[in-house]
Order: sequence, then structure tokens, then C-alpha cells
Amino acid sequence: MRVVAFNSSHRKKSDTAALVDRLLEGAASLGAQTEHVRLADYRIGFCTNCLTCYRYQGAGIAPCSIKDDMRALLEKIRDADGVVLASPLHGGFLNGTMTTFFERATFTLGRPTGTIMGLRGCPEPRLTEKARACASVVNAGIVPPELRQACDLATPWLRDCAPVLFNGELAGELYAASMQYHGLTDEECSRAFLLKELTDEQMEQAFDLGTKMAKTIEAGPRPYSPPGC
Ligand SMILES: Cc1cc2nc3c(=O)[nH]c(=O)nc-3n(C[C@H](O)[C@H](O)[C@H](O)COP(=O)(O)O)c2cc1C
Repeated sequence: MRVVAFNSSHRKKSDTAALVDRLLEGAASLGAQTEHVRLADYRIGFCTNCLTCYRYQGAGIAPCSIKDDMRALLEKIRDADGVVLASPLHGGFLNGTMTTFFERATFTLGRPTGTIMGLRGCPEPRLTEKARACASVVNAGIVPPELRQACDLATPWLRDCAPVLFNGELAGELYAASMQYHGLTDEECSRAFLLKELTDEQMEQAFDLGTKMAKTIEAGPRPYSPPGC
């Protein structure tokens, strides 16, 4: 059982990384082999819309005209039984690195022959040899949980896209924000935004999500099926 986590934070002392490490400890506690991939350590170029991947009709990962580290990252997904996507919340969405990673995965991992709610041309999984467990971790600064619905567009997006690209089942999601946000001075607000401390509860939620992933893998994740099917 292999669980790989892609963390898109560029910070050396990263809250997202701490949550990912804890999540992977949870998965490892049930026997998973784990890998924490820091996307900032890899070269990932922007998609140029050349359609090399889009036109590919063969098996497996579609080729890409950009020669960078993306192929190696996609192979890690192919070989994994569980995939974690972890991003800091930037402007209410995934950060740019995670957005670029997903952009490049859209048609290298997704075949453009799917139909969702009558809409043709949607991605469907290319890597159908097995189903994978998926999980999302979104790490926010100041947006409190009660405002999350309006200010966290990242989690719903990951929730919808990850099962398609990884041919998988969502095992769970984690949203971690600063727990101190009422009545803060500007300086305190800036600390909460930039230097927030993760709570023990958030770290335990991360551990639990890791165990949930391992259990989902053990039980056999459901392969992707388009909404309404
Ligand atoms: C450009 C930028 C935009 C941000 N936008 C948001 C936001 O919309 N909502 C929020 O709660 N935090 C926001 N933050 C704060 C980060 O989500 C927060 O600092 C997070 O803990 C960083 O995680 P990391 O330490 O793993 O990089 C933003 C930070 C940056 C640098």
C-alpha cells in the first residue's frame, strides 16, 4: 500500500508540510509506505495548450511536449494506491504551484472522452488499472471555519477533480485555519495569517485522515464514476 502526498507550499517552515507529515504518519501506522513530495523542488512548466496529451489515444499517461519534471510526478501517481493533494489557501483558492500541477495533469491523466451531465469532452481517467484513495488538505491563514464556504474554493475543486484524474474515491478532506480570528489587532491578524500555529486537534485530524486513507485503500477504493451515473 503506497500513499504519496503532493504539497505545494514553497515555505521551508510550512504548516501544510506539518499537516502532510502527520497525515502520512497516520497512513504509515496502518502499514502504508509513504512519500511526501514537495512540488517546489520540481520543475513544473505552464501548459501551452499544444494538445499533445489531448490527442493521445494510447494507454497510460499521455505524453507532454514540455520536458520538465512533470512526467516523474505523474508516474508517482500511477504507482500510488493513495494520493494526497495539499495546498495553502491563496486568494481563496489553491496556490499557483498546485494549480499548474493540476493544469498539466488534466489531459495527461484524463482522457477527453468523458461525459458529465450530458456535457461531452470532459476528462475521464486514463489510469484505470486500479482505483486510488484521494484526500485533500487545504491550509488557510485567517479564514475561520464558519466563513469557509465562501472563502475556500480550493477544497470543492479538489473534491471534484481528484477522483477523476486519479480514478479514485475521496477518503476525506482537511481544512486547517487559524483558530484565533475574533477581535485581533492588525499585528495579531498578520501573525495569524503568516505565522499561525496549528492546533493539536488539527494535527490529530491530519493523522486520522491518514488512517482513513489507509482503510479506504484496504477496503478497495471505488473507481471514478461521473456524477449522476
Ligand atoms: C498570496 C497569498 C494569499 C493568501 N490568501 C489567503 C486566503 O485567501 N485566505 C486565507 O485564509 N489565507 C490566505 N493566505 C495565508 C496562507 O494560506 C497561510 O499563511 C498558510 O498557513 C500558508 O501555509 P504554508 O505555511 O504551508 O505555506 C494567503 C497567503 C499568501 C502568501
